[in-house]
Amino acid sequence: MSEPQNSTFRPRIFSGIQPSGGLTLGNYLGALKRFAALQGGEAETIYCVVDLHAITVWQEPEQLRMRIREAAAAFMAAGVDPAKSVLFNQSQVSAHAEMAWLFNTVARVGWMYRMTQFKDKAGKNSENASLGLLAYPALMAADILTYQATAVPVGEDQKQHLELTRDIAAKFNHDYKVDHFPITQPLIEGVATRVMSLRDGSKKMSKSDPSDASRINLTDDADAIAQKIRKARTDADPLPGSADGLKDRPEARNLVNIYAALSDETVDQVLARFEGQGFGAFKPALAEVAVASMAPITKAMSDYMADPAEIDRVLADGADRAEAIARPILDRTKDIMGLLRTR
Ligand code: AMP
Ligand code: TRP
Repeated sequence: MSEPQNSTFRPRIFSGIQPSGGLTLGNYLGALKRFAALQGGEAETIYCVVDLHAITVWQEPEQLRMRIREAAAAFMAAGVDPAKSVLFNQSQVSAHAEMAWLFNTVARVGWMYRMTQFKDKAGKNSENASLGLLAYPALMAADILTYQATAVPVGEDQKQHLELTRDIAAKFNHDYKVDHFPITQPLIEGVATRVMSLRDGSKKMSKSDPSDASRINLTDDADAIAQKIRKARTDADPLPGSADGLKDRPEARNLVNIYAALSDETVDQVLARFEGQGFGAFKPALAEVAVASMAPITKAMSDYMADPAEIDRVLADGADRAEAIARPILDRTKDIMGLLRTR
């Protein structure tokens, strides 16, 4: 059995975002902004609102429906163009759920218990977590491999899930003696793969943090953004001349990384301009860059949300196009596994 040659698969990029609450600057810089930048290259780009993942923890039905549209609006506001990418929501393409079941028979229970996201989300009472929360990574592998995706752009927190996706692909190929699934490459690149909380430089910026001041939401207006940056935790030292000087200063490093990611500069380029200055000077400059880049996105999002029928049309069209790619790959997977298909 030889390793599958990813060059035998056509280049295809897949990624997803959960519609489980307001999106943050972390989602934008770690994911959405990069999704938009990857369009129009050699690889086909497929982006998904992963609503089946969201329901692994409780979601209010009416609110969920709104958040699915809101996540789709965020993709488009960040520059994902439904004419250049396939944009859809997961639950409308049943191949995801079917492939996930097939992978439930390939993946091992122990692999799932080792996932740090499961441990974090399940908390102390893990016996009471939904079975879906435990199987979450098998569904994620299904999302990716149902398109034979060769690369997946994500933030740092998804690295372990992508390794598990590679393990599932490798075990399937090995067990059935085929080169059916690619060994997907994670694309965890840039300075903003892990945007940290504005209140605590050791914690990830997250939509589930109880403190709203810890994050910038994609729906925050200019005043809220500026105020959150002004109040962000920092230290009293001036900024150093190069990235090395930020090693033991997590809060300072986070703000400089955010600046660099927003302005498409390197950390060293940013520091070359601000060397020797304190946060009294840096924070207003960061607020200005943040407002300038985020305001058009916030505005575009609310414009899209004003026309939910148009979002629904985009998602329906995206689901048709996704289905056309997914169905033959799912059928072939069933054939390989010996399931009988008579139609
Ligand atoms: P989620 O909101 O958990 O569905 O995450 C969607 C995408 O955003 C994934 O690629 C995450 O890795 C990425 N992401 C979420 N939070 C952050 C963060 N604080 N910094 C960088 N990327 C993030
Ligand atoms: N688990 C991812 C997250 O929470 C979301 C996700 C689901 C995903 N399926 C995916 C990301 C497939 C990339 C590819 O961020």
